[in-house]
Amino acid sequence: MAEKKLLNQTAIVTGANSGIGEGVAIALGKAGANVVVNYVVDPEAANAVVEKIKSFGSRALAIQADVSKEDQVIKMFQQTIQQFRTVDILVNNAGLQRDSKFHEMTLAQWQFVIDVNLTGQFLCAREAVKEFLRRGIVPERSVACGKIICMSSVHQVIPWAGHANYASSKGGIKMLMETIAQEYGKQKIRVNSICPGAIKTPINTKAWDTPEAYNSLMELIPENRIGVPEDIGKLAVFLASDDSDYISGASIFIDGGMTLFPGFATGG
Ligand SMILES: NC(=O)c1ccc[n+]([C@@H]2O[C@H](COP(=O)([O-])OP(=O)(O)OC[C@H]3O[C@@H](n4cnc5c(N)ncnc54)[C@H](O)[C@@H]3O)[C@@H](O)[C@H]2O)c1
Repeated sequence: MAEKKLLNQTAIVTGANSGIGEGVAIALGKAGANVVVNYVVDPEAANAVVEKIKSFGSRALAIQADVSKEDQVIKMFQQTIQQFRTVDILVNNAGLQRDSKFHEMTLAQWQFVIDVNLTGQFLCAREAVKEFLRRGIVPERSVACGKIICMSSVHQVIPWAGHANYASSKGGIKMLMETIAQEYGKQKIRVNSICPGAIKTPINTKAWDTPEAYNSLMELIPENRIGVPEDIGKLAVFLASDDSDYISGASIFIDGGMTLFPGFATGG
């Protein structure tokens, strides 16, 4: 049986009833953590993730909260602390796209993506840091006072035509993550980002669900395969565990080489 590196630690994973969040919640549960499976719609999917985590012998609970709403985020943390006593790990994963040509983008499309992808990460991280500071380090569980993992994207560095709102939200996450990491490093709170390339989830179905789309996507990926949520889950366990104790403020790209300027493999 795999070593349970996160035993007795409690994790909140936002947007954990689908895609990458689901993969991360399951991986953290397998590693022994109690997991809060946050969702905003589709409680059945959230409950299925909870049942899967329980099947590994870990504890899990589905909590509904819209991460862009301050009162709902505060309540989610209160419910988590009531159930599991504290929070050790936050995975700020919830995110979405509302794509549009830039000159046609409405203020509502811009604001909605910023509210969920960036303000949502601010609100959850703030509540997590408050709880980490209140509780302090518990050496039997972790040498860190708390861990925050932000789900960013290769689009924190790769500009993306037709997705100005999304790319801006991910660029913002980079500075948010680095600033929190710098501000609370002395208190042993570690904050890092995972920057996925193309991962097979509902958010990007159009990029992989026909052979033409898939082949065109492969031109962007030197490793020649699309990623899966399990790839991200393994990295999340590493970043949440003491194995990564000396890593803070890092953006870890997990993209099959998408950020290696693949066009230069044959051109340039
Ligand atoms: N799939 C990819 O290729 C890829 C690449 C880079 C980054 N990402 C990022 O990974 C994260 C997860 O995306 P995914 O690919 O799993 O897509 P997904 O659509 O499967 O999952 C997104 C999750 O976020 C939830 N969510 C949306 N709005 C919410 C809100 N207001 N409050 C709470 N939850 C909310 C959704 O319900 C869903 O559970 C996102 O932040 C996304 O930007 C994905």
